[in-house]
Amino acid sequence: MKVGIDMGTTSEGTSASLDIEELLATRLLVQGNSGSGKSHLLRRLLEQSAPWVQQCIIDPEGDFVTLADKFGHVVIEGERTDAELVGIATRIRQHRVSCVLSLEGLDIEQQMRSAGVFLNAMFDADREYWYPVLVVVDEAQMFAPSVGGDVSEEARKISLGAMTNLMCRGRKRGLAGVIATQRLAKLAKNVAAEASNFLMGRTFLDIDMLRAADLLGMDRRTAEMFRDLKRGSFVALGPALSRRPLKVTIGAVETSARSTSPKLMPLPEAPQDVEDLILTPDPDELSRPIIRRPAPPPRPANDILAELSRPRPEPAAAVEVKPAQPEMLPEEREAIVDGLLAEILASPEAAFRPDAELFQDFLVRCRIRRVPGAALSLSAFRRKMAIARSGVDAETAASETWASALQLADRVTEDLQGVFLMIAQAAARGLPCPSDAMIARAYGTHSARRARRLLGYFEEQGLIVVHADFSGKRIVAFPDLGRETAPGDANGPDIGNAERAAAE
Ligand SMILES: Nc1ncnc2c1ncn2[C@@H]1O[C@H](COP(=O)(O)OP(=O)(O)OP(=O)(O)O)[C@@H](O)[C@H]1O
Ligand SMILES: [Mg+2]
Repeated sequence: MKVGIDMGTTSEGTSASLDIEELLATRLLVQGNSGSGKSHLLRRLLEQSAPWVQQCIIDPEGDFVTLADKFGHVVIEGERTDAELVGIATRIRQHRVSCVLSLEGLDIEQQMRSAGVFLNAMFDADREYWYPVLVVVDEAQMFAPSVGGDVSEEARKISLGAMTNLMCRGRKRGLAGVIATQRLAKLAKNVAAEASNFLMGRTFLDIDMLRAADLLGMDRRTAEMFRDLKRGSFVALGPALSRRPLKVTIGAVETSARSTSPKLMPLPEAPQDVEDLILTPDPDELSRPIIRRPAPPPRPANDILAELSRPRPEPAAAVEVKPAQPEMLPEEREAIVDGLLAEILASPEAAFRPDAELFQDFLVRCRIRRVPGAALSLSAFRRKMAIARSGVDAETAASETWASALQLADRVTEDLQGVFLMIAQAAARGLPCPSDAMIARAYGTHSARRARRLLGYFEEQGLIVVHADFSGKRIVAFPDLGRETAPGDANGPDIGNAERAAAE
């Protein structure tokens, strides 16, 4: 069924139609600075398409709850246990009811967690409930940030994982992502890259404009036009919208946003006794309980351990003269750190323990070995672990191919870098393609199905090409490196690199 909904008017004076069925297959990214009219646009899209398709809105500001009255969306407050959220999301898919997940009032970490758990549960619905749903995420950069922020690694992983599932793997399960962001440069690249339809609004910052131009395949000069767009005007491009960039002015909406732009209002006449008015306490005031901001959450153990492992300043006048510790050369320090990483990885359970836990283990070991200087950050640690896990040998590690492989690895999220590099090193060295079991272990799972999904994902990203030789053995080619693995048995055992190199 072909349903075109009316988004407003084009610069040519015609009606701007959005093909809903095509949108379900090809997703939409909306970007524009604050106040450019993204939320208004999403509201227009939701209102117009409400009769045609089930909708789920991830709403950080609680702006869209007003859809409930007119269109019957169920409002779900985000402050719930994971089990409750999973239960609700599952029933939302079973009963095909439109909903708004309102995350208003939660702190950012809770917002990420709740959205992540909810979206993942929608994604994991049983196959019989894979009906189409428009999943609209406003302020998507919050849920799929391009770099780690102050939130815990766990929350970031859940939320980013859910957004990646939605945008990269949701289509077959009926989930169609529609995401809006103020700052394209702050949105994880792999999430943005999966949308084929774009509505680009007013954009000031060069870095966002360049990302937008990149996504739309425009040159920079043409992208300059995003600077001059008025509020409510967007450049549309994509199979569900228009085959060439087309300026669209978004039409009116029927429901109102709870928050609107501040309007200037004249100040009231100042009363004579203004000082009295402000400084005289109201009689109730003194009996009212004082509300204080909640205490900041306890600092994560990582921070405390990192601080502990930092060298303390020498006391100014040491009473007891200890023998000075011999200075450690940077190479020496590096070698010890690498040795510690290898020790951690040598434990058979290491692959299945979360990185944050391994990081704590690492910090403690650094302290025991009295490694001077600041300990690695968690993200530097991750990177080193990814390289160590890949099993690359010293010779390959020094090669140019490896330097390019490391650059390519930056195009996937941190949690996928280890697996990616593990396959890349096999290609760089001409070793057989790792088996599903080996890929699964590098990703910290026992599931071979997941391993195959990962390969599919890398392939979708244009990083690899998977093919087979005449006997059906798997080969993974890296077009950017000009290398490919030797043929390997996908169902082969999980053996280490050293054994494989020896078997060659
Ligand atoms: N096409 C439009 N027609 C009429 N009013 C509009 C239009 N687009 C936006 N507005 C109004 O402009 C104001 C800002 O729009 P909106 O809240 O959608 O911006 P936004 O891009 O979502 O900003 P933020 O990133 O800060 O959330 C709102 O009051 C909205 O009603
Ligand atoms: Mg908004």
